[in-house]
Amino acid sequence: MNVLSPSILSADFAHLAEAADLVAHGGAKWLHIDVMDGHFVPNITLGAPIVKSLRKYSELVFDVHLMIEKPERYIDDFIAAGSDFITFHIESTEAAGEIIDRVHAAGKKVGITLKPGTPVEAVEPYLDRVDMVLIMTVEPGFGGQAFMEDQLEKARFLVQYKKRTGKDFHIEVDGGVNLKNVRRCLEAGINVIVAGSAVYRGDVTQNAADFMRILGE
Ligand code: DX5
Ligand code: ZN
Repeated sequence: MNVLSPSILSADFAHLAEAADLVAHGGAKWLHIDVMDGHFVPNITLGAPIVKSLRKYSELVFDVHLMIEKPERYIDDFIAAGSDFITFHIESTEAAGEIIDRVHAAGKKVGITLKPGTPVEAVEPYLDRVDMVLIMTVEPGFGGQAFMEDQLEKARFLVQYKKRTGKDFHIEVDGGVNLKNVRRCLEAGINVIVAGSAVYRGDVTQNAADFMRILGE
C-alpha cells in the first residue's frame, strides 16, 4: 500500500486546517508535519501546541518529523498533541532506544531517520523495533530543495534487510520529491512519499490527486 504524506511546511501557516483539507480532498490520508528547532537544523517552524490545535480540524494520520536536538525532551508533548507517527533523527539523540519504547508505550508509531551524510548502517541496530524508516533526500531544514537521487541506495539496503529478516516497516522518502521522480522512489521500494512544494504550489488538491494516481498504479 503506497501512501502520500503531503508536507505542510510549504503551506500557508495561517491556514493549516484548510491546507490539511485541500490534500484530503485530493485523496491523501496522511499529513507530514515538520518540526524544527533552529539548533538541529537552521530553521524554526512549529511545535506541539500547533499540532494539538490542528488535530481538532483534521482526521488525517499525523506524520510528525522531529528535526530537534534531544527529542526525548518533547516526545510526551507530541504524543499528547495527537501525533500518530513520530519520527526522530538518529543524529539528534543518544536515547534512541528509550524514545522508541516511550512512543510504543503510548500506543503510537515511531520512525527513525537520518541525514543524507549519515550511513544507513547507523539506524540498523533499531530496525527490528521501528514502524518506519525515513530517508532524507535533501539536507533537512527547508522545503523546495533538489532531490538527491543517490540516497535511494539506502532504500535498497532497507528492502534487502526486510527480505533477509522478515521484519516489516514503512520506508518513507522526504525532500525534493515531485511528479517526475516519484516513480523512481517507488521502484526503489519506498512506500510513503512526502512532498511539500510539489503539492502546495499551484492547485493543491489537483497536485495531491496527481500523486495519488501514480501511487495507485
Ligand atoms: C525538509 C522537510 C521536508 C520538506 C520537503 O527538511 O523535512 O518535509 O517539507 O519539502 P519539499 O518536498 O519541497 O522538498
Ligand atoms: Zn520532513
